Amino acid sequence: MARFLDNPEACLQAGNSTLTELIYGWGNEAWSAREEFLACCINYALTVKGPILECGSGLSTLLIAAITKQTNQPHWVLEHKPNWASRVQSYLDDYGLHAHITPCALKDYGEFCWYDVPLNELARQFSLIVCDGPPSRTTKGGRYGLIPIMKEWIAPGCVILLDDAYRREEREIAERWASELNATYTIECKDKPYILMSVTSQY
Ligand SMILES: C[S@@+](CC[C@H](N)C(=O)[O-])C[C@H]1O[C@@H](n2cnc3c(N)ncnc32)[C@H](O)[C@@H]1O
Repeated sequence: MARFLDNPEACLQAGNSTLTELIYGWGNEAWSAREEFLACCINYALTVKGPILECGSGLSTLLIAAITKQTNQPHWVLEHKPNWASRVQSYLDDYGLHAHITPCALKDYGEFCWYDVPLNELARQFSLIVCDGPPSRTTKGGRYGLIPIMKEWIAPGCVILLDDAYRREEREIAERWASELNATYTIECKDKPYILMSVTSQY
């Protein structure tokens, strides 16, 4: 972590093992994002001009917070498990990092469940969204709720990173989001694919 805090860009270089070591050290490998997805999050977080939203928290939260400490971009995080939110918060505190961790229960919106987001407290016009929660397998509708509930909080030009695209459900969600947002997307990475979606300026 000290190495990452010192120079986040360095972990993006070929042959650099920092992300692999961080995933191992975090000790939650079954639930953590993998190297390629984390590298993509880091890459966009380094350059984004605007607020960042994370759906689901964990190692990615610490890494993005390390970057926003340098860039000063607001970083909001939705987390439905109070204990997990506290754990992530305590690691942020240990490393002197900051993110707006927002504990919010999952709410049944009918067709899907999504975080019961205190929308009026959040920054508007997110420019980067890292969608790695809520857990797809156990949440009605998976992560689909992001767009119907939060569309007005998404800036034109926003990049959305959706993990777990090896699942058919995630790819179907990406297809629906793309048509509802007038967005384009690609499926990146062969080992553990994720969706890279770009929202056009008009939607
Ligand atoms: C896929 S995880 C998010 C991982 C995060 N992006 C990371 O890089 O570590 C999605 C959600 O699963 C829950 N979660 C994380 N670890 C868990 C565990 N070991 N057991 C049960 N739920 C967990 C948390 O509520 C989290 O927000």
